[in-house]
Amino acid sequence: MHTPPFPDAPIGVFDSGLGGLSILRHIRARLPHEHLIYVADAGYAPYGDKSDDVVAARSLAVARFLVARGIKALVVACNTATVAAVKVLREHFPDMPIVGVEPGLKPAAAASRNGKVGVLATAGTLAGAKFLRLRDEVSAATQAAFLLQPCRGLVERIEANDAEGTTAMLRRYVTPLVEQGVDTLVLGCTHYPLVKASIEQVAAEAGAAGITLVDTGEAVTRQLVRLLEAGGLLRADASPGSLEAYTSASATALSAAFNVLVGIDPPVHEATFGDD
Ligand code: DGL
Repeated sequence: MHTPPFPDAPIGVFDSGLGGLSILRHIRARLPHEHLIYVADAGYAPYGDKSDDVVAARSLAVARFLVARGIKALVVACNTATVAAVKVLREHFPDMPIVGVEPGLKPAAAASRNGKVGVLATAGTLAGAKFLRLRDEVSAATQAAFLLQPCRGLVERIEANDAEGTTAMLRRYVTPLVEQGVDTLVLGCTHYPLVKASIEQVAAEAGAAGITLVDTGEAVTRQLVRLLEAGGLLRADASPGSLEAYTSASATALSAAFNVLVGIDPPVHEATFGDD
C-alpha cells in the first residue's frame, strides 16, 4: 500500500473503545494540522478484565493495522494497554515514536493538600508491574498515600452510554474513597474523563465538593509533540488535518460517540484486527 511521505503521514491513536477520545480531543486541539486515524477495539472491550498476554496480542494486532496504513507515530490511548503492551510494541516497532498513557500519580501527589490520593483504574492497570513500580517510586518520593480502586464494570457502562448505571457504579467506587479522606482522584483509565461531571457530582454528594481530578490527556499530548519535534515529524502544511476512524464493533455507535464527545462526524469504518 502507498505510504504517504513523512511528516504528512497520519498519527495512529487507539483504545479498547471510546476512552481514547478523551486523549484525541487534546491532540486535535494542540495539533489541528495533523492527520489522525482512531481505532476503537470495542469488539474486544473491556481490556481491563483480560490477561496481559491477551491485551498485548490485541494491541499488537491493532498496531499492525495502523502501521499498514502508514502511520508516523502511535498513541496508546489506554492505560491498560500501556501497562500490558507498550514494551512489546516498542520492541516490534523500534523506529516508531510510541506514546503510552500512565495514571497521573506524580501530578496528583503534587496537587493533593493532605497527601491522600484515590486512584480509579481498571483491574488490569492496577495489577500491572509497571503501575506498581510507578506507585512505589512516587510514594517514596512524595510520601503520598495512594488508595487503589479497581472499577470493574465501569468501562462497559460508559461504552453503553448508560448514564444512570455509570452514576450508580461511581457511587460504589468513589464514595468509600471520599470517606477515607482523599482530596484528589486520579482518573487512571481514559474512559473516565468522559464522565468527569458525574464523578464530580458523586464526590460532592459524598462530601468532597471541588475534589481535584487528575487526567493525563494534556501530558500525553505534550509528549507526542516532543517526540514528533525530535524526529522532524511535525506536519508543516497549514491545512486542517483529516480524521478517520475504525472499530471492531458498531460503526454507528462510534459515529454517535464522535458526534457527542468530540463534536465531529468523521468517516467511521468497521474493521477486523488480528484473527477476529
Ligand atoms: N480506556 C482504557 C484504559 O485507559 C479502558 C480499558 C478497558 O477496556 O477496560 O484503561
